[in-house]
Amino acid sequence: MQTCAGSVNQNIYPMLDIHALPENLDDPDIVYVIFKNSSGAAYTLPFAFLDDYFRWPMMASSAKNTLMPTYARLPVSFVKGEGVWLIDDTGRRYLDGVAGISVCNLGHAHPQIAAVIADQASQLVHTSNLYQIPLQSALADQLCQLSGMDQVFLGISGAEANEAAIKLARLHGHAKGIENPLIIVAEQSFHGRTMATLSATGNRKVHVGFEPLVGGFVRVPFDDLEAIRRVAEVNPDVVAILVEPVQGEGGVNVPGADYLTSIRQICDQHGWLMMLDEIQSGMGRCGSWFAFQRAGETSPAMPDVMTIAKALANGVPIGACLVASAATDLMQPGHHGSTFGGNPLACRAALETLSIMEADDIPAQVASKGQQFRQQLTDKLQGCDAVVEVRGAGLLNGIELDRPCGELVTRALERGLLINVVAGNVIRLIPPLIITTEQLTDLADAVAQLVIEFVAEGGVNQE
Ligand SMILES: Cc1ncc(COP(=O)(O)O)c(C=O)c1O
Repeated sequence: MQTCAGSVNQNIYPMLDIHALPENLDDPDIVYVIFKNSSGAAYTLPFAFLDDYFRWPMMASSAKNTLMPTYARLPVSFVKGEGVWLIDDTGRRYLDGVAGISVCNLGHAHPQIAAVIADQASQLVHTSNLYQIPLQSALADQLCQLSGMDQVFLGISGAEANEAAIKLARLHGHAKGIENPLIIVAEQSFHGRTMATLSATGNRKVHVGFEPLVGGFVRVPFDDLEAIRRVAEVNPDVVAILVEPVQGEGGVNVPGADYLTSIRQICDQHGWLMMLDEIQSGMGRCGSWFAFQRAGETSPAMPDVMTIAKALANGVPIGACLVASAATDLMQPGHHGSTFGGNPLACRAALETLSIMEADDIPAQVASKGQQFRQQLTDKLQGCDAVVEVRGAGLLNGIELDRPCGELVTRALERGLLINVVAGNVIRLIPPLIITTEQLTDLADAVAQLVIEFVAEGGVNQE
């Protein structure tokens, strides 16, 4: 442990003084980081809390915080949104390169979505899944038409959608007479914070403190087909594989062009379910409705199970688990449910979101905007040796640096820019999909300038 006081911007974090930070921020064994506030009280926070969304420590300034400190929040609160802009409680405007973590794909306060939410709220917000919900059926039809899948379960979050996928894999396994079915999952993956989904997640920091983990997962490196084949050879209990077509939280990792097609072949060969977590990569984010359909893939490899959430209703909580072929009809009455899942309000917002995306051909636009954006970032960062790679798909993009760069989040905030850092050293840029090419150029300019200055100053915690 070593003292790193002063490495946090005191204008932004007047209450916070870093007391001590671990020497190597990427050491997977680091579990806790200690802080002191201005009155000298020490706080110990699990390092995991600082990593997934915002790497650097931020604490609310109120002396008594009645919120559970599950998030290390930035000291800014937004009161209004307008397209790609968020406005804080002092009236300051911020260009949003985060979109509520790939949620507000159509931007903030979209007038059509605001109107249908208000209209639906004035008619009927919630009934129950005990009754018919026509808006739910309409949404399921629409999702099946866009994806080629056959049936939909509607819930309220990504983790809940993935729980459904995990349960489906187990049903599939038991139907085949396998008592202890196993699901192959990837390193650096992120699937959620419930017990089963955090156990599936390939990030030790997400596990720490919550052992014993849920069993039944076998982990392989991401984008490594041979590793999957090796597991298949030795393990007859495998029944499914669950991967993200493009990893988001794990560092914006884009697999090779034949990854999903080959997984499809392996699944067919062994009778496994191919399950795709498209919670971050789907809904147009990667330049096609769902990432498995994107042009980079040699030919679309239809999954048996696909989960989506985040942007499906542009911010109204909703999640969905879609099934096809071998996974169809596995769920029967009593197997699964969700009180709020697919209620009229969420479904109406989702239907409107899909309709706007279709009318404006948003996925296709994202593909070309994304290419241009990556090129701009690459050009502007040319010659900056600390940049390991600019990569991404559509408007899910990352700039990997050769050093931890979580501090850039706060530096960007000071300049009225919202960005995000994942995996400690990857700047993730996930703006609303309606961002214009001019705004993307501004974003690329601002981020490149931040990176260049940061690197010129020697980065953070470079001893
Ligand atoms: C790929 C992926 N899966 C699952 C989740 C969990 O979704 P939620 O936070 O809605 O439960 C996330 C959230 O970031 C995600 O990125």
